[in-house]
Order: sequence, then C-alpha cells, then structure tokens
Amino acid sequence: MQEIDVQATRGPYKIIIGEFLYHKKLVQILQELGPYNQLALVSHPRILELHGTKIIESLDPGQKLVIFSFPEGEQNKNLTTLEKGYRHLLDNGVNRNAILLTFGGGVVGDLGGYLAASYLRGIRYIQLPTTLMAMVDSSTGGKVGIDLPGAKNAVGTFYQPEAVISSIDVLKSLDLREVKNGMAEVAKYGFLYDERILDENWQLEGLDDIKDLEWLIARCAELKSRVVSTDEFDTKGERAILNYGHTFGHALESSTSYRVFRHGEAVAIGMMMAARAAELAGIAQPGLFQLHREILRPLLKGFAIPDEVNVDEMMNDMERDKKREASLRFVLLKDINHPCLVDSLSKEVVRSAIQEIIDDLKGN
Ligand SMILES: NC(=O)c1ccc[n+]([C@@H]2O[C@H](COP(=O)([O-])OP(=O)(O)OC[C@H]3O[C@@H](n4cnc5c(N)ncnc54)[C@H](O)[C@@H]3O)[C@@H](O)[C@H]2O)c1
Ligand SMILES: [Zn+2]
Repeated sequence: MQEIDVQATRGPYKIIIGEFLYHKKLVQILQELGPYNQLALVSHPRILELHGTKIIESLDPGQKLVIFSFPEGEQNKNLTTLEKGYRHLLDNGVNRNAILLTFGGGVVGDLGGYLAASYLRGIRYIQLPTTLMAMVDSSTGGKVGIDLPGAKNAVGTFYQPEAVISSIDVLKSLDLREVKNGMAEVAKYGFLYDERILDENWQLEGLDDIKDLEWLIARCAELKSRVVSTDEFDTKGERAILNYGHTFGHALESSTSYRVFRHGEAVAIGMMMAARAAELAGIAQPGLFQLHREILRPLLKGFAIPDEVNVDEMMNDMERDKKREASLRFVLLKDINHPCLVDSLSKEVVRSAIQEIIDDLKGN
C-alpha cells in the first residue's frame, strides 16, 4: 500500500493505493474525518453490481447509505443527470453534514465531484476511482464538472476531495479497451516526467501483463499530485503541461462527437501528433515520434480510425477551442521528460502532423 500527500488550499489530502482498501482504509478515513450523519454514494448500476458489496460490507451495518446511480457513458455527464442527483439527495434528506463517495470512472468522479461541490454550497467527498484512467489521472486534482451539448467540461470548478482511495482489486473487471485507455494517460506521465514508466510492457493483452500495477498507479498519482500541489488552479503553466496530447486529442474527440474514441485513445493519437509536430517545428530531434509510435501503437491495436476523422474538421475544432480558452497552446516535448508550452505553432506544422498520423493509422 502506498500513500501520497496532495497539498491544496482547502487543506492536504491523501491518495491511497493498494488492494482491498475499502475495508482497510475507507472506514478509517471516514472516522478520521469526524462526525458526519449520512453517506451518499454516486455510481453506475454496473459498478454497483460488480463491486458495490465491497463498499457496503465495509461500512457499519447500521450506516444509512443514500445511493444515486445513473447510466454509464460520457453522454450522461450532463445537466439532466446533475439535476436528478440534487433531487435525489434532497429527497433523501442529505444535509450539509454528509459525506459523498464517488464510486466509478472519470464520468462518475467528475459529475459526483461537481455534485458535492455545488449541493448546499458544497459537502465533503471522497473519490473511489474504479478505472485505471480515474486512478492515474481524473480522481486527483479536484477538477470536477459536466459537459454541455457540444462543449465538453464546459461547466465545473476546482473542488478537492477529502481523500482518494484507489483499491486496485476492482480493476480486474475492466475490459482490455479500458485498460489500454488508462495506459495512454500512464504513457503521458512517462513522456513528460519519468522514463522508468516507459519501460512498461506496452504489448499488453490484459491487466495482468502490467509489470507492477501498484507502483505504476502510485507513480502517476505522485507525479500528478506534485503538479497539482504547485499549480492547483491551473494558472502557472505547470498544470497545463498535463494536457500533453490533449489539444489534438480533444479535436479528435469533439470532431467525432465523442462517439468514436475513448478519451485515452484520442490522447494516445494526440501525443503522436504532438511528437511529430515537435519534430516538424524543429523543437525536437527526429526519433521522438518513432518512440511515441512504438509505445502507443500497441494501445491502439485493432482500432480502426474512421473516415470521418479529417484534418479540416480537426483544425476547425481547434479554432473553436482557441476561442473558448482565449489562446491555443500546445504542450510539446523538446525531448523525453523535457516538456514546454508553445503558443505559436504554425498552422502548416499542425496540419502536416495531423495528416501524417491519420495516414499512418489508416494504413493500420
Ligand atoms: N477531472 C479530471 O482531471 C479528468 C482527467 C481526465 C479525464 N477526465 C474525465 O474522465 C472521463 C473518462 O473517464 P473513464 O475513462 O474512467 O471513463 P468512464 O467513467 O466512462 O468509465 C469507462 C467505463 O468503464 C466502466 N467501469 C468503471 N469501473 C469499472 C470496473 N471496475 N470494472 C468494469 N467496468 C468499469 C464504466 O461503467 C464505463 O462504462 C471523461 O469524462 C473525462 O473528461 C477528467
Ligand atoms: Zn486526459
């Protein structure tokens, strides 16, 4: 078991990674948090079916648990679900002295965290991530929110949890595509900060092929927590580095209306585009893209890039992103573990990098 401290303005909190932690740690942390009169749990039906008893059995038999369960999928990370969540908590008498548990992947964590942040002007919450993606990335750092039609993560805030408990035994039920989805964000941490992560077995066919899962998750969480501790509100440029591959990735996701790619798949392709763009712009030496390709292509094995993905749509989408964010910034690598922020990347370079990678993937 490993524990990592995150420093935040609302106070420090712990990320705990290990096996069978609900029984060992959730109960202890709830006790340490002091008096609370109710527990609310936000999740999906399938996760409750697969792993819900692990939570319920670890709590006191008399503990009342208000469960808000909503259908899975990014399309449900929206205002309608949020309103149902508020209603459910209100109807069940959940008050300001309650603690909310988010129990699921990034969709549950983002929506449940925002529910906690805004219900009755904010109640305490604990993240219990159940996907690799959520354990290595989304559960840490307090970015919570929901999507509006055509605008991902358009509504949200920064609201740090009281703790993150990553009980890795629950990952056994993830399918291979979800494992690979998470591994793309893992690779991101390797490219940005720690080459040891890149020694992983990327040809994996299942969770068991990962060399040391606990170490890998803890290392990514530690790297993210360091960034969050120094740039909690994403104003200093350090947290922006974590968007490596995401400018291209978001364009892939939104130009296909979030129907085609899992987030990690889009980020994997986005990082290949960023690596090629860095080479074309003369920021990185040739070879950077090839290294990305060797690591990331296995994560995309069997994934056919559809014809609707095209460079014009992606360029349009980046322009829209630029308007929303007030500038279009790219995270590029000068070399492995040497990231930098680039505000002025020529359209020709962006276009060529996108086209080359699309062609490469279509020739799969
Ligand atoms: N807040 C942040 O900093 C941040 C960072 C990265 C991503 N995100 C968000 O995270 C979301 C993506 O997260 P995700 O990839 O975890 O997707 P997800 O939450 O949709 O989960 C993927 C699928 O796995 C299922 N699942 C979850 N746990 C399972 C388990 N243990 N066994 C079997 N199936 C399980 C879910 O029901 C779902 O169908 C996006 O909305 C993205 O915007 C947020
Ligand atoms: Zn991401």
